[in-house]
Amino acid sequence: MSYTIAMAGKGGTGKSTTATLIIRYITEELGKAVLAVDADPNSTLGLSLGIEVKSTIADIRDDVVEKRVDIPASMSKDRYIEYRIEESIVEENKFDLLTMGRPEGPKCYCYANNLLRRYLDKAEQSYPYIVIDTEAGMEHLSRRTTNDVDLLIIAFESTIIGVHTANRITELIESLPIKINKYIYVMCKVPAKGVSEKVKAEISKSGIEVSAELPFDDEIYDHITSGESLLEISTENNVYIKIKNLMNKLVTVTTDK
Ligand SMILES: Nc1ncnc2c1ncn2[C@@H]1O[C@H](COP(=O)(O)OP(=O)(O)OP(=O)(O)O)[C@@H](O)[C@H]1O
Ligand SMILES: [Mg+2]
Repeated sequence: MSYTIAMAGKGGTGKSTTATLIIRYITEELGKAVLAVDADPNSTLGLSLGIEVKSTIADIRDDVVEKRVDIPASMSKDRYIEYRIEESIVEENKFDLLTMGRPEGPKCYCYANNLLRRYLDKAEQSYPYIVIDTEAGMEHLSRRTTNDVDLLIIAFESTIIGVHTANRITELIESLPIKINKYIYVMCKVPAKGVSEKVKAEISKSGIEVSAELPFDDEIYDHITSGESLLEISTENNVYIKIKNLMNKLVTVTTDK
């Protein structure tokens, strides 16, 4: 079984950034392989990992369902889909990346989601860690597109709206059809002057326990604006150090894979 980490949080909060640095932590610090999954239809995880994604699960769905490809006579449809998904995975030295993409119509999400879920069930056998970057709405978690989650990271900004959204996500978690073993709150893009008293009061009122405060960071800003991979930021980067410390406390080292 894999140790599965998933991200949740409002749009633009810092989910993909955090997921990228967690992938780096697992591969560099723990020396373990990761399946990185970009489950956001507006895929950006590849960008922060510095990877060009050529094919997505949505493309495969569109090709097969809209009959844009001839499935070889020697292959069943299922086998063909499996082959295409394996082909779409970008293999890097220490991790693989699978990208969901955006299917053509809203009705097509269900099919693509099922493909993703089937693949993730299988991936449990071969990857010690799976890191899933999700879209803001938590659809993947609520439609049970992902496996059970060992660690859900709720990313939120240090604003009143940020705290309200984190609360709403917490309420949603209770009603999800998947098992979440543990969830934590990570405050992202905290300004240099610190968190305002009003926001602090809102946090304590809601009972949220913040596991890490990640500062707004110029190096991350520079890397993203110049299109460089976040895997290249300094090992002494403040945000990366905070993520390393947090993960050291939380993530179980699996020795079987
Ligand atoms: N600690 C940080 N310091 C500086 N910039 C940051 C930091 N964290 C995130 N950002 C920037 O904020 C923007 C949003 O971050 P990110 O893409 O990680 O959020 P997201 O929650 O995945 O967004 P979306 O919901 O759109 O996928 C990006 O431009 C990212 O580079
Ligand atoms: Mg994102």
